[in-house]
Amino acid sequence: MGEINIKMNRKTITLVYFSPTATTRTVLEEIAKGTGYDVADVYDITLSKTRKQIPSKLDSALIVFGAPVYSGRLPGLAADYFKQLSAPGIPAVPVVLYGNREYEDALLELKDICVKCGCRPLAAGAFIGEHSFSTKQVPIALNRPDKKDLASAFEFGQKIAKLLDRPATGPSSGTVDVRGNIPYKTPPIPRGLPFIDVTDDCTACGICVAVCPVDAVNEKEGFCTMDEICVHCCACIKACPESARIMKDGPLKDIADRLNQTCGTRKAPETFFAAV
Ligand SMILES: Cc1cc2nc3c(=O)[nH]c(=O)nc-3n(C[C@H](O)[C@H](O)[C@H](O)COP(=O)(O)O)c2cc1C
Repeated sequence: MGEINIKMNRKTITLVYFSPTATTRTVLEEIAKGTGYDVADVYDITLSKTRKQIPSKLDSALIVFGAPVYSGRLPGLAADYFKQLSAPGIPAVPVVLYGNREYEDALLELKDICVKCGCRPLAAGAFIGEHSFSTKQVPIALNRPDKKDLASAFEFGQKIAKLLDRPATGPSSGTVDVRGNIPYKTPPIPRGLPFIDVTDDCTACGICVAVCPVDAVNEKEGFCTMDEICVHCCACIKACPESARIMKDGPLKDIADRLNQTCGTRKAPETFFAAV
């Protein structure tokens, strides 16, 4: 009986994230562990089929929203999904993952969306993940989040839980301030740029088709990527067991080379909390 009561009183956390190369997911899971809360629901909206269902109302003690930074903003399809959610009065934590360049206006954009959903954003975090464009040959924040990043994520979760333990009428009932500008910056990478080549090493296993968040891999045309649909997330490149998907020479490969040269200095996660 005692055990049942303990379970009934445990607090729950909901995770909502878009994460084509899994760094956002990894950090959110570590934050959740740090809170010590039970995971109530996970809305992984990475694949197109998962974005077709919109829960009518999210309900738990805490919601963590997560997305990667794309050109200093949220990926449009993640922002569009998050905006449709409703979670009146629920404490929320917006979290962005960026590839050791800058997160610019993405965290503010996600925080603003939390407010539009009716949530109360009481903490926020910008963490670093291996850049989507990173490869072993052209590394950018390779293998991040690493142990140190995950320890920060866990500690962040612990601090959030402590903040939530304070009475709702106390000073922590405000909302968090984060870095970013309004109007948000305009993302510079347009659709339709030549991006991915498929080499002769392709064995037609179809993993690239399964992991693409926008169904841009054309099975019938040699598993080529449809440039006008592709969002450049690199999920297919990183998931290919034969390393048969590579970046074409062009503006995006040039960006990868430039980031490899300019983003070598390790950045640390930043966390923000509602004023006490
Ligand atoms: C199209 C695109 C644009 C990106 N823009 C930025 C950026 O502006 N700043 C940055 O530091 N990282 C940028 N990144 C890197 C991702 O934010 C980073 O790799 C993130 O960890 C990926 O998250 P995921 O593993 O959950 O997909 C970009 C990645 C892509 C695909």
